[in-house]
Amino acid sequence: MSKTLIAPSILAADFANLQHDIEMVNQSEADWFHLDVMDGVFVPNISFGMPVIKSISKHAKKTLDVHLMIVNPDQYIKTFADLGVNVLTVHYEACTHLHRTLQAIKAEGMQAGVALNPHTNVDLLKDTIKDIDLVCLMSVNPGFGGQSFIENTFDKVRQLKALINEKGASTKIEIDGGVTNKNAKQLAEAGADVLVAGSYVFKADNPTETIKGMKELLK
Ligand code: DX5
Ligand code: ZN
Repeated sequence: MSKTLIAPSILAADFANLQHDIEMVNQSEADWFHLDVMDGVFVPNISFGMPVIKSISKHAKKTLDVHLMIVNPDQYIKTFADLGVNVLTVHYEACTHLHRTLQAIKAEGMQAGVALNPHTNVDLLKDTIKDIDLVCLMSVNPGFGGQSFIENTFDKVRQLKALINEKGASTKIEIDGGVTNKNAKQLAEAGADVLVAGSYVFKADNPTETIKGMKELLK
């Protein structure tokens, strides 16, 4: 099993002390920054957009992993690339021409990710998996942090891993929603490469130690 990456979700950070929380992640054993962009249309919530990502980008010293929970993502691909985003993930359910969208993300020099809602079957990626750098399996319904992990995700990770192997793809599997020290190890064993953790990290008394503890668990 290769090293599992931890991506703290900034959605759960203190927006009035964002620089403090960014520095915490910089200094910690975390691997990526996970940034959730919500438009109030694709999901029933609005989070933050370009000006905030621009500010984060100035201070963040690790990979910027942006999760777009928006309709019509194509029109903003270049803007996110210009902001310094490394991994740009769109929702399968929001893309009419997914293959075209993936090519456009890669043409801007970013890694292309596809997120699947809990009800979306991994087999729908059979024909595109070799073009996808990262699949984000939603283990909660997107829109909010702090929700409970959906147990069916374990099966989906295994199915997706089998599909990736069958097609000879090098796609990473990311899990997003309700990740804690209770399910992290089992997710990694099932085939997860990146674990997003929002509330579990930022609502902890000591976020740095919490990240460290998770890393320890995944060794
Ligand atoms: C939910 C977001 C998640 C969220 C995870 O729509 O995509 O990234 O921030 O938060 P927790 O870890 O609190 O479930
Ligand atoms: Zn997310």
